[in-house]
Amino acid sequence: MKDVEFIATSFAVPERVVTNDQLASFMDTSDEWISKRTGIKRRHISEKENTSSLAFRAVKQLQEKSNFTPDEIDLIIVATMSPDNMTPSTAAMVQEMLGAKNAVAFDLSAACSGFSYALSVARSILLSNHWQKAIVIGAEVLSKLIDWRDRSTAVLFGDGAGAVLLSASEEKHVLGQDLKTFGELGNKLTAGYTKPMKNLLENNRQMSAFEMDGREVYRFVTHQVPDSILRAVQQANISLNAIDHFLLHQANERIIKQVAKKLDQPLSKFPMNIAEYGNTAAASEAILLAECVANNVIKKGDVIAMSGFGGGLTIATLIFKF
Ligand code: UT7
Repeated sequence: MKDVEFIATSFAVPERVVTNDQLASFMDTSDEWISKRTGIKRRHISEKENTSSLAFRAVKQLQEKSNFTPDEIDLIIVATMSPDNMTPSTAAMVQEMLGAKNAVAFDLSAACSGFSYALSVARSILLSNHWQKAIVIGAEVLSKLIDWRDRSTAVLFGDGAGAVLLSASEEKHVLGQDLKTFGELGNKLTAGYTKPMKNLLENNRQMSAFEMDGREVYRFVTHQVPDSILRAVQQANISLNAIDHFLLHQANERIIKQVAKKLDQPLSKFPMNIAEYGNTAAASEAILLAECVANNVIKKGDVIAMSGFGGGLTIATLIFKF
């Protein structure tokens, strides 16, 4: 066993769609501001489904596409910053729903870089244990972490899940990778802070909502993402022009355009679905990959640079042959 390959991809989003105009009906914002500054038009927001249910819906589709039996799965990783619980993990819940009794399952927390981090970790675990199959999921119900009175964050995010089935391969598929964490910038993007209790009988547990220094994160990302892609490309020992598709985390259309410009690559190589789903954090790259495969934009053998960035702050680029 030399590497892992992508066998199937899938995604699931909640049915309910919330448009920019709908947001503008209860918050001081406008379709014009949101569209112009971010490229977002709509987002899918969950009414009943939690993170595990969206993740499982994506996994059921994966099963329909690739016909694996639950017993064959050795590993399940859910990348998420909005798990159902602190414990059990969302991955353990998915393991139970799927009946994948042989799988080791755990969540991975790296915010919007989570899916790329999880692919890298899953690959290492399969390779070091000579395991055969892993399901890697990016899943979020971010709507439960948002303060819906805060227009600076509420308009940006959406809910959804994407999944891939990885399998052991005798051929090289992952050509290069670059993972980095900038803990000193952690306070630029935070959510879900819980504080220790002063009084043991105190029972008013609270979690902080999503907060982001948008301008600082924007500056960080537009500088770091091109550098990360260049490092990964160098490691892969290929030229930038050899990359067929750049799948960037869907945080802002302006960021994607700027990265394309900095890398001097045509925007047509940067598929986008931010208009429909907004920023779905760890689910974003997984949904984009699955949509591109479903639409025949990405085909077997294409070379992909996938780049996630966000909370931590974190950056993760993988270059792989699909
Ligand atoms: O997924 C994790 C990674 N995240 C990112 O990569 C996000 C990076 N950051 C961004 O994408 C952008 O910074 C944002 C989209 C978050 C914000 O865009 P911006 O162009 O940086 O806007 P800004 O924060 O500088 O705000 C500009 C103005 C402000 O008004 P003043 O101070 O100029 O009067 C804001 O109060 O826009 C105002 N504003 C809004 N107006 C209408 C902020 N949010 C809104 C809103 N509707 N929703």
